[in-house]
Amino acid sequence: MVEELNIPLHHMSKEAKYQMLLSQIQSLLEGERDMIANLSNIASVLKYGLNFFWVGFYIVKDQQLILGPFQGPVACTRIEKGKGVCGKAWLNQKTIIVPDVNSFPGHITCNAASKSEIVVPGISGKKVIFVLDIDSTELNAFDEIDSGYLEKIVSMLIDYSDC
Ligand code: SME
Repeated sequence: MVEELNIPLHHMSKEAKYQMLLSQIQSLLEGERDMIANLSNIASVLKYGLNFFWVGFYIVKDQQLILGPFQGPVACTRIEKGKGVCGKAWLNQKTIIVPDVNSFPGHITCNAASKSEIVVPGISGKKVIFVLDIDSTELNAFDEIDSGYLEKIVSMLIDYSDC
């Protein structure tokens, strides 16, 4: 779509990129209800659409977060409730933006190249089903534009998938 208009992806604003990805995500989710399939495709859409360092999901299982579909380098496989950014987003059922991972007490380092991070919990009913974790090699990479769109995308994932 963008190619047809001859607008290079790197010239678009972050908001415009998210807007474009939303319609792609909508059509991907409309045809599929399997959660793992949907998490897999959305990890890919976000990684390649926004060029993040690491995009992935941790799924709640047996009172832990266990690594799910992701795009990027290998990562930690299990995170306890309340531990790290992911475990805190699960515990508090709230999005966490970390401008500088070295200033976040308890941050779990899976890859030393990560400098900032956002984690968005996927909540169905009152339970967290999974968390979306995105890492950047830049400091301060995430703001309210990211949290707004990513919360929308996560709630679409919950609505369109059998959790
Ligand atoms: N940094 C995360 C762990 C997951 S990795 O970044 C992929 C945390 O502190 O929860």
